[in-house]
Amino acid sequence: MCEMGFMGMMVSPEYGGGGMDTLSYVLALEEISKIDSSASVIMSVNNSLVCWGIESYGSPEQKLKYLPKLATGEWIGAFCLSEPEAGSDATSQRTTAKEDGDHYILNGTKNWITNGGKSSLHVVMAQSHTELKHRGINTLIVERSSPGIEIGAKEDKLGIRASDTHSIMYSDVRVPKENRIGPDGFGFKYAMSTLDGGRIGIAAQALGIAAGAYELALKYAQDREAFGKPIMNHQIIAFKLADMATEIEAARLLVYRAARLKDMGMDYSSMAAMAKLFASETAMKHTVEAVQIHGGYGYVKEYHVERLMRDAKITQIYEGTSEIQRLVISRAILSGELYQPMATL
Ligand code: CAA
Repeated sequence: MCEMGFMGMMVSPEYGGGGMDTLSYVLALEEISKIDSSASVIMSVNNSLVCWGIESYGSPEQKLKYLPKLATGEWIGAFCLSEPEAGSDATSQRTTAKEDGDHYILNGTKNWITNGGKSSLHVVMAQSHTELKHRGINTLIVERSSPGIEIGAKEDKLGIRASDTHSIMYSDVRVPKENRIGPDGFGFKYAMSTLDGGRIGIAAQALGIAAGAYELALKYAQDREAFGKPIMNHQIIAFKLADMATEIEAARLLVYRAARLKDMGMDYSSMAAMAKLFASETAMKHTVEAVQIHGGYGYVKEYHVERLMRDAKITQIYEGTSEIQRLVISRAILSGELYQPMATL
């Protein structure tokens, strides 16, 4: 994937990236996710949450120093926001970054970090001014080779088992102040803004999982015979496939629309939340249906659908749970920002 340019698809060519738009990126994520969501989440975090954020908000020096390595996959990046007691409630950061001359001293524990064991660069959110609450949070670029970093055991997960997920402990890690992204106190906005784009990536991943399950279920339904005819010719199975095809297409339109809004420089926060919410719920619902269509064969590891079903679940959880997406969407409705959800492009 690194050699083929997938790790820095949206990074500008001047930093060694592919210079592609968000729509091209989601098309790639969708296809890869039909087969392997572990691969697509490694790619999604590196592109959306690490490279895009550094390119959008980093200093010229940070971009020159880090993007060429990240865009080519020489280095893999991790996004370190979640903590044991700060998951959905991301403003409650307990990790601290205290000023000490030209450095910050980083202390704390991050949880559920995708690429945690293999990454060379961590983008870490930490509280520098507790009294300012979320406005005191900073985002720091932390090199893995810095003394004081300990990587916890690899999590034994239900799905996406080929993506390595770890907790990471920081003990008195010295981070140069020049590695802070954006102005003092910008760290929470950085996290929220990059997550808006990240959610489009996870929505594309969920779409790919659903589409992959649909393709397998369709083929199985055409090949497998019961009561003297292919099960596809039994209306109860055909109607399941009709629902799958319809809802997957609806998810696809939402995901592509969010990507297009981002590419057009328009506000895409609530559309990204809608795309992630709908695509991930669709992936969960229809991977379960795909297993059901396969019957007993769907329940064994020899067939790919049980893996897709296990992988689908995480898309309703990471980069903002379905509940958080509903919160983001409902707040946009309440504030009047989403007054015209049917506006055409
Ligand atoms: N863009 C920029 N700024 C934003 C923003 C956005 N989309 N959304 C909120 N903000 C800003 C607000 O303007 C506000 O700033 P000011 O006070 O300066 O105006 C600040 O952020 C706090 O916002 P709220 O008052 O809305 O905060 P809240 O606590 O009520 O709600 C939340 C925030 C939406 C619930 C947020 O905490 C959230 O999204 N939680 C989910 C966290 C999450 O997605 N975690 C994923 C972990 S990363 C991961 O999974 C990666 C991986 O490895 C796969």
